Amino acid sequence: MKPTNPRILPYGTAAIEAAAEVIRAGGCVAVPTETVYGLAADATDSRAVAGIYAAKGRPSFNPLIVHVPDLAAAERIALFDDAARELARRFWPGPLTLVLPVRPDAGIASLVTAGLDTVAVRVPRHRAMQALLAACGRPLAAPSANRSGTISPTRAEHVDANLGDRIALVIDDGATPAGIESTIVRGHAILRPGPLTPEALFPGGGAATAADPDATGIVAPGQLASHYAPSKPLRLNARDARPGEWLIGFGPVAGDDSLSPAGDLTEAAAALFDALHRADAAPAAAIAVAPVPETGIGVAINDRLRRAAHPR
Ligand code: TXA
Ligand code: MG
Repeated sequence: MKPTNPRILPYGTAAIEAAAEVIRAGGCVAVPTETVYGLAADATDSRAVAGIYAAKGRPSFNPLIVHVPDLAAAERIALFDDAARELARRFWPGPLTLVLPVRPDAGIASLVTAGLDTVAVRVPRHRAMQALLAACGRPLAAPSANRSGTISPTRAEHVDANLGDRIALVIDDGATPAGIESTIVRGHAILRPGPLTPEALFPGGGAATAADPDATGIVAPGQLASHYAPSKPLRLNARDARPGEWLIGFGPVAGDDSLSPAGDLTEAAAALFDALHRADAAPAAAIAVAPVPETGIGVAINDRLRRAAHPR
């Protein structure tokens, strides 16, 4: 299938049925989750999964997250210990991805795990992804619905602009509520900071983060330094715009645009990728971003900003 333009269907029964039909036929569709829009395909069908890699132009060593409707479905794919089960009970459905040993009988295409003996699984909360999982009755592999190396999409329009010539169908259910990708956890290590903070996940303390690979000894293979890149240079911790810069503000720094005039970090996370997309589309030659506090979900926001600022 070589679509020239995607159909963008508003969330509803017709959209879910059309999307399930594409997936059953081995295709992929863009669907919102509570974090970002995902590009979903049947995780048990290696040709379908290859279609995701092809559309994204993603290096094949970078494994994908498997989305399932509930913990029971996750346990058919991955081996849970008590600690993982406890996290799942507390945070699923929600923006938590667990990296666990893959079950030998999981039936997941090896392209999904990129040959690793672990699998990343997640139970999403968003109604559109949940409805699609129910309609398909199979686990869905879904990376963010953007070309590899570009900014993740938080709106159907972002998907259309970035990937529109490569996919058949986008389910439009407005802006995604959390706005940044799920927190990825393996054991006590946070491989990717996200909407769920270390304090929320491990209230007793003791979380190791991937920012400190010596502590974890593990990194998510997709955590390449330059990953969430706009097409222009990006300067961090800016209090004023220099000539030719588009300033993304936060709190007291007003800017051309603001992540949150009130200085609210949750609001800023939800607005982040949208603001980066707008900055990329603005006529200014460069982007500057106001300082964002390194607390709570601010850690995940700064993680994405540092990656976006990393020269390619
Ligand atoms: O919020 C999200 O997680 C979104 C939505 C669509 O669910 N998905 C997403 O997927 O961000 P993606 O493919 O863009 O990022 C998946 C990350 C990558 O950094 C990948 O390396 C890591 O998960 N990952 C996948 N499987 C892994 C594994 N077995 N071990 C370590 N890291 C893994
Ligand atoms: Mg991604």
